[in-house]
Amino acid sequence: MQTRQTAAEDAGESLFIPVVLGSVRKNRRSFFPARLLAEQVAAAGHRTELLDLRELRLPMYDEEEETERHTAVVAFKESLGRSDASIWLSPEYNHSFTGAIKNAIDHLHDELRRKPAAACGLAGGVSGGIRASEGLKTVLIELHAVPIRESVHFGEARTLFDAQGTLLHSEFVHRIDTMLASLVWYARALKWGREHLPVPQRQRG
Ligand SMILES: Cc1cc2nc3c(=O)[nH]c(=O)nc-3n(C[C@H](O)[C@H](O)[C@H](O)COP(=O)(O)O)c2cc1C
Repeated sequence: MQTRQTAAEDAGESLFIPVVLGSVRKNRRSFFPARLLAEQVAAAGHRTELLDLRELRLPMYDEEEETERHTAVVAFKESLGRSDASIWLSPEYNHSFTGAIKNAIDHLHDELRRKPAAACGLAGGVSGGIRASEGLKTVLIELHAVPIRESVHFGEARTLFDAQGTLLHSEFVHRIDTMLASLVWYARALKWGREHLPVPQRQRG
């Protein structure tokens, strides 16, 4: 049987797909799901990095030169700038994605342009953070990212992992891999497009 690594290598070069973790809360439940997303990217033969907004501690976007030179801002932009695709995970806070994610996005300019993005949600209830992920997609569009249809929604977040971070619901591996297969397809198609096709004039207004 062919391994996932071999399948990825056969289909083309390994891609760089960072995972942005948008929960900065002390006792957050999003860490284990974000780590699982990154593990599945690596298991599929691609390179990844967990861009953990709690660790990065990005300053508030204010257009000050000092802020733009901030080590965390530079590292965040650099990582997404060399990405082929990105995965975003946000818990649902007050029917939206987190303020930390919005601030992180406001620091970006053209790093996600014409690259696919998968938006995933998490919530304590059954909704799985769908309002967070759907809202995030509409914001990512403004950066000329290409949000894909597939998402993974980590509902009932309290029961998904044990205290050591072991996944208790194995069906999530399949859901992540299905999303990832689509993301990689778009990443390859859009990479080819960026390299071979002229970009249409930017719409004003
Ligand atoms: C400020 C705040 C607002 C929340 N609002 C919602 C909400 O609108 N809908 C929902 O389903 N869950 C809501 N929740 C529950 C969170 O989705 C749940 O606590 C989840 O574990 C948060 O992710 P985190 O643990 O990674 O921070 C809210 C939680 C917080 C802290």
